[in-house]
Amino acid sequence: MQNSGSIVTPWEVKGDVNYDDLIKQFGVEPLTDDILERLRKQAGYLPTLITRKMFFSHREFGDWMESYDKGIRAALYTGRGPSGNTHLGHLIPWIFTKYLQDVFGAELYFQMTDDEKFLFNQELTKEDVKKYTKENLLDIIAVGFDPKKTHIFTNLTFTKTMYGIATDVAKHVTFSTAKATFGFSESSNIGMVFFPAMQAAPCFLPQRLDGKDTHVLIPCAIDQEPYWRIARDVAPKLGYRKPAGIYSKFIPGLGAGGKMSASLPETAIFLSDTKKEATKKVKNAFTGGQPTVNEQKEKGGNPDICVIYSYLFSMFDEDDASVTETYRACKSGERMCGECKEKLAERVVKFLADHQKRREEAKTKVDEYLLKD
Ligand code: TYM
Repeated sequence: MQNSGSIVTPWEVKGDVNYDDLIKQFGVEPLTDDILERLRKQAGYLPTLITRKMFFSHREFGDWMESYDKGIRAALYTGRGPSGNTHLGHLIPWIFTKYLQDVFGAELYFQMTDDEKFLFNQELTKEDVKKYTKENLLDIIAVGFDPKKTHIFTNLTFTKTMYGIATDVAKHVTFSTAKATFGFSESSNIGMVFFPAMQAAPCFLPQRLDGKDTHVLIPCAIDQEPYWRIARDVAPKLGYRKPAGIYSKFIPGLGAGGKMSASLPETAIFLSDTKKEATKKVKNAFTGGQPTVNEQKEKGGNPDICVIYSYLFSMFDEDDASVTETYRACKSGERMCGECKEKLAERVVKFLADHQKRREEAKTKVDEYLLKD
């Protein structure tokens, strides 16, 4: 969908995204104080991903919490398309999903769309996709989801169950709807056209597995939202509840403009990056600084366009007083970019080291998480 010169689709995010416009265009709702107060009551606290408005919109999140209150089973569904190594951006929805799992004790269904990446990218072979699936799986487990309540599956291996549900979904979606929602054309392969049914299917997976009434909530970045429109249209036709959703913004790439994306590797911090690689990327990142130290002192920097500040704000500085001070000191010209880069690099390196340790440990836990036909 086009939005003030930017593009947001499940496969492409380009330009400067205006999230207020997106709320209107996608027909989602902003997160209100009432809803957040309900969440705070349940959890005892709100994470910075909420208080700093990284998660900014939703569909029926309040109703999902109400279902939970009424004793209706509340489940979570999120996913990953294994087309490369995992980067920091992918972690945003997963970290928040873990918070929700901890707070609501909810079962989590985690889809890996190996089929999607094979079908949509002419260069990727099945072998490539298998390799990335194996690698990404370790990153997902390393987030720390509850192994007793987390069920990870890949479309190409959990096929019997997935195909059963996807065909039920597909029967109710016309080509014209798929085309209007996803922009398919005459040259799209027919696997691509069917794929939205595969991504919509897990919205109904818990109900299918044991027949019990379930309200599913999908935490993800806003680019995935078009799939849930399809799922919500079809849900009543299949006799299921419409899935709810809660949507995040994108963390930007390290260059000027655009979301962090694996297709621009120099501007993404991968979870597999070494200390040296990550530090180098942070040091080369786009900032809101002036060309010279003297100009910076005189005119001040611009944290509103600074990638370093945005990473501190969204992920790497949880202390509100500290981020406020960083913002002020940058604007007033007291703080130079080198200092912020140093601080961020240090935190990113520590974060990656901790993640990589948990990722090593994940290698022995894979079977605890995998859902099989
Ligand atoms: P994928 O693998 O592109 O992305 C995985 C998750 O990360 C989000 N995301 C980001 N969030 C913040 N900042 C960024 N820069 C950023 N880049 C990506 C995505 O929105 C997604 O939540 N088709 C999907 C896989 C999938 C899925 C799902 C995702 C299957 N079922 C259910 C979410 C929910 C995909 O390729 O995601």
